[in-house]
Amino acid sequence: MNILVTGGAGFIGSHCCVQLLDEGHDVTVVDNLSNSSIEAIYNIELITGKKINFFEIDLLDEEGMNNLFQSKKFDAVIHFAGSKSVSESVDFPLKYYFNNVYSSILLIRIMAKYDIKNLIFSSSATVYGEPSSVPINESFPIKGMNPYAISKIKVEEHLRGNFHEYPDWRIILLRYFNPIGAHKSGLLGDNPNDKPNNLMPFILKVASMEEEYLEVFGNDYETKDGTGVRDYIHVSDLSDAHVSSLNYLLSSDEKSGFCHALNIGTGRGYSVLEIIETFEKINNKNIPYKVVDRRPGDISQSFTDTELSQRMLKWSAKKDLNDMCKDSWKWKQSEMKRKKYES
Ligand code: WQD
Repeated sequence: MNILVTGGAGFIGSHCCVQLLDEGHDVTVVDNLSNSSIEAIYNIELITGKKINFFEIDLLDEEGMNNLFQSKKFDAVIHFAGSKSVSESVDFPLKYYFNNVYSSILLIRIMAKYDIKNLIFSSSATVYGEPSSVPINESFPIKGMNPYAISKIKVEEHLRGNFHEYPDWRIILLRYFNPIGAHKSGLLGDNPNDKPNNLMPFILKVASMEEEYLEVFGNDYETKDGTGVRDYIHVSDLSDAHVSSLNYLLSSDEKSGFCHALNIGTGRGYSVLEIIETFEKINNKNIPYKVVDRRPGDISQSFTDTELSQRMLKWSAKKDLNDMCKDSWKWKQSEMKRKKYES
């Protein structure tokens, strides 16, 4: 099948392209490379031995996108492109409404123009805000606590709310929990151009001596050891969930259109201290840390109920925390070697 992947040079998008190519799909990537690198496209081709049709286009470039859709009849779109930093979204909300909401509306409009009806949207567990309890299932209330989360909610609402405009579309909204890890080859990983926000990139900076110690944002939460608990999922499992979703869109015997939201996580929550401890043990590294104040906007704990994703997609996460910590460090080590070689 012809699959268009927006943001396919990014962390999750690039891993998904590998699995789509391995499954025999023809993959086209559009990415403006604002927070990713062309290296990822080369490495996808290196890993799979297959060609990617790559176009450096911004989704806001209506003419560029129109030319692309004129050139090829896509069977489905997997939409990753967007900004993903919670803290940046608080400082620059308009950027998030443009990059994440307006660009998605333009994409949806051009899909309708070319009658493309299968869409997987990269949403986020942050749409739940501070959950009233855990585990979280898809019927939990939606609460946007920051512009990043609000941007994801707005796109979900647009897809669900305007469903009458395109009643025969088949849409899956994937609400990711916390993606970490890297491709087993060490060639693909979480490599944002901007300052990383997330826990694992910071741990990797300490492990590679780029930072002296990790700041642990608070140890007074009502959790097992006082530090924040999250549902970390290996990026390869997460990209697997996209391939399972695509198979569902293309083969499901649901006759009419549909729009399903699915939580994608492992169903297990780990605290910050557990992540540090596992990383140290599996990689034989020391990760010094200092407990500092809570980060504004952080929630206490979040992990998912996996029942619906397992039942609908016949998918579940296979890799454990040891794999996530081992593969993350392997990626960082090969990135350090690459940088040393290039300098
Ligand atoms: C995890 C835990 C922090 C950094 C992100 C974003 C978004 C989403 C994934 C897709 C928390 C603690 C972190 C540090 C720390 N992706 N921490 N020191 O907060 O769940 O949010 O989830 O939508 O990227 O919403 O992930 O990795 O930032 O933090 O103590 O230097 O690690 O307090 O408890 P989070 P995170």
